[in-house]
Amino acid sequence: MSIDSLTALVRTIPDFPKPGIQFRDITTLLADAGGLRELVDRMADVARPLDPDLIVGIEARGFILGAALALSLGKGFVPVRKAGKLPGRTVGIDYVLEYGTDRLEMHEGQVPDGARVLLVDDLIATGGTALAAAQLLREQGASVLMALFAIDLPDLGGIAALEADGVAAAAIIA
Ligand code: PRP
Ligand code: ADE
Repeated sequence: MSIDSLTALVRTIPDFPKPGIQFRDITTLLADAGGLRELVDRMADVARPLDPDLIVGIEARGFILGAALALSLGKGFVPVRKAGKLPGRTVGIDYVLEYGTDRLEMHEGQVPDGARVLLVDDLIATGGTALAAAQLLREQGASVLMALFAIDLPDLGGIAALEADGVAAAAIIA
């Protein structure tokens, strides 16, 4: 499938969740078997040469793509969740996003010291979420080989912000 056909499977919903936000909805892509296969294959082609120890996915849509990618690469998957969702002892970090503030948490000890991880989410906008997740992972002693996204909103500068912070970053659809 061409990148244009893949891109066409993402729908844009105006004014969600707040006025002025053009929300890129990947559920239409996920519902298309060929599109889902194509997206995960393209992400796996980027990630495979890095040979990460673990895939770390960001709530919520980073869970879907991160778990699919982990299966595709034969790696384990670790979730980074919004505050208060994980049952075990957690470590966390507060962050700012395009339309509000939030807190990310992960289970303490689930990413071993020295682990080489691939960070995954569906979309990067300002980069606030991914920067926070990368910082949290570094605080746990992990190295973030790359942050990989299905979609980049380049006007919001997220990939540039990650790279300025020393995190390699890439997206399939820009
Ligand atoms: C979206 C998206 C990323 C984040 C990107 O999640 O899935 O996680 O925003 O924005 P940023 O680059 O400006 O930080 P959202 O906050 O909508 O949460 P959800 O996936 O739990 O619905
Ligand atoms: N997260 C932040 N901005 C977003 C957007 N425009 N579409 C989907 N998710 C987002």
